[in-house]
Amino acid sequence: MKVLILDSEADAIDRAAEIIAETLREKPDAVLGLATGGTMIPLYEALRARHEDGLSFAKARSFNLDEYIGLAPDHPASYHRYMREALFDHIDIDPARAHLPRGDAPDAAAEAEAYEALITDAGGIDLQLLGLGRNGHIGFNEPTSSLTSRTRVKTLTESTRKANRGYFDDEAQVPRFAITMGVGTITEARHCLLIATGAAKAAAAAAMIEGPISAACPASILQMHRRATIVLDRDAASELKLSGYYEHVHPGGQDSAFDRGGA
Ligand code: GLP
Repeated sequence: MKVLILDSEADAIDRAAEIIAETLREKPDAVLGLATGGTMIPLYEALRARHEDGLSFAKARSFNLDEYIGLAPDHPASYHRYMREALFDHIDIDPARAHLPRGDAPDAAAEAEAYEALITDAGGIDLQLLGLGRNGHIGFNEPTSSLTSRTRVKTLTESTRKANRGYFDDEAQVPRFAITMGVGTITEARHCLLIATGAAKAAAAAAMIEGPISAACPASILQMHRRATIVLDRDAASELKLSGYYEHVHPGGQDSAFDRGGA
């Protein structure tokens, strides 16, 4: 695990945007795994700015982590809509190559299986972007999700429903189920890039990085990944016991001299 600690949220976002841009510069037809949530909004703004400066997504392909069951792509709180508004409508990605599971599919289990097959057909994911749930979830893999799970239907926890309540008119409207890439699907990505900012993520970040590998904190499986980069701001890093070491290895959140290919 490469743990990069940046002074501010803005610096963390800029560092993560640079990692994504580097991936696209090295491999313009990269398969990107994308995420949603509040953390990603400034990141997508940073990518839009880089696109205006010449970064192209024209040959890339993308797969989002998840979607709420029951929401059609034009629902204001759907992740389809979020992605169009936050990113897709502002860059040159081919909309036919920007994939999300359909929350309104008549058979959600079949949709999940087909989505998984589509990822495999695309040759797998080069760079998977991840946010962190306050309870340690990645995608919508809530605590106790199998660490080898595949794309499937998950029941959301009440805490996740509350955390996402702001996107809906009232709490009753927050869906109870989602289709999400599995933990196993996510960790097959060749590079995982998780971003967590703000004090509300400090406990989950500490459990993910320094706690035991456990389905109780699905993000902790990234400890087993050959190439996982964790980008934190100082608030999200505030409960780490070994932050001095991470900062010694990666001063200012930059690569160490030995780090090509991950640590
Ligand atoms: C949702 C998404 C996750 C995201 C999490 C954190 O539950 N399914 O992919 O990481 O929210 O979101 P935020 O960045 O808003 O804290």
